[in-house]
Amino acid sequence: MKRIGILTGGGDCPGLNAVIRAVTKAAHQSGYQVLGFQDGYAGLVLNRFMVLTDALVSGILTQGGTILGTSNKANPYRWPVPKRSGTKRARLGDVSKKALAHFKKNRLRGLIVTGGDGTMAIAKKLHDDGVPIVGIPKTIDNDLPGTDITFGFETAVITAADAIDKIHTTAQSHHRVMVVEVMGRYAGWIALYSGAASGGDVILIPEIPYRIEAVCRKIRERARAGKHFTIIVAAEGAKPLGGRWTVQRRVADSTDPIRLGGIASKVAYEVENKTGLEARSIVLGHVQRGGSPTPFDRLLATRFGTAAMRLAESGSFGRMVAYKNNCIESISLEDAAGPIRTVPADHPLLVSARTVGTSFGDLD
Ligand code: F6P
Repeated sequence: MKRIGILTGGGDCPGLNAVIRAVTKAAHQSGYQVLGFQDGYAGLVLNRFMVLTDALVSGILTQGGTILGTSNKANPYRWPVPKRSGTKRARLGDVSKKALAHFKKNRLRGLIVTGGDGTMAIAKKLHDDGVPIVGIPKTIDNDLPGTDITFGFETAVITAADAIDKIHTTAQSHHRVMVVEVMGRYAGWIALYSGAASGGDVILIPEIPYRIEAVCRKIRERARAGKHFTIIVAAEGAKPLGGRWTVQRRVADSTDPIRLGGIASKVAYEVENKTGLEARSIVLGHVQRGGSPTPFDRLLATRFGTAAMRLAESGSFGRMVAYKNNCIESISLEDAAGPIRTVPADHPLLVSARTVGTSFGDLD
């Protein structure tokens, strides 16, 4: 029987189960058996998988998370290996040959890998080393190159916008400045979209370094106009002009060791000191990665999954499916593993947010 493998890598994201379901159903229609490797690339290195039956994927379209499990640490090229005798330091080594061996042992025609930039960078290497791969872009951060959108982003934006809407009531009632920190790593997509959708007065994104004086000026301006509260939406990757990112912790064995976090409390503290107004910070955190995917994300994930299976069937490996101008296309894994996609200065939403008076903390 023809066989195909699938794994989900990186942080979880609404729509992963919809992809697993789509790939499995499309594969079954074409007479393939589907092996679902567990916990990202760890499943391939350790040969841990489940055979995905129709029963297993039935009813998962609307579920968040991934039935396969995922990992943003498992990397066949940086895998924990035994310490050298006499040393205390943990070592990371290349076990990609094991991954290749398991791929061959299971007689797979190809592997479908769903993930973000870290997962795609590994996919590119594994593909070059002999594992035929098709990629599917996922991430709430929406920062993968070559695709207009990734699934999970819209769901995260709705979650964040809903939270910001709710925070408005406390801001108004207590005449406070509320600083809401959203995810997105080094890209400001979630902050821009959720901030603009919920009428954030100030939006801070990594692409536009802010000046705290400009932020305070906006708050004072609003107070003069009789608006004694301000909502600031800060991307976790936002940074002051000439300053650095706010780093919460380092996860040494992760594909991306830096965990951003803390910008909201930093900005709230500075605003309170400089304006004398009461300020609070709120970190939305992983709630943005949870919950049922929106209908759009379910549909996008389904289109990506079926398109990836079509590519695999036709032997078009080394590609990642992508969404461009409402159509599903594909780009090379090399391009997919390129620099992340950030918010351009002339992005239409950014321009229109400025036009309605939103401050990005940069202009006087
Ligand atoms: O890439 C998705 C993401 O949620 C980022 O927005 C965030 O910076 C990071 O993952 C958090 O990672 P972890 O789940 O390891 O804390």
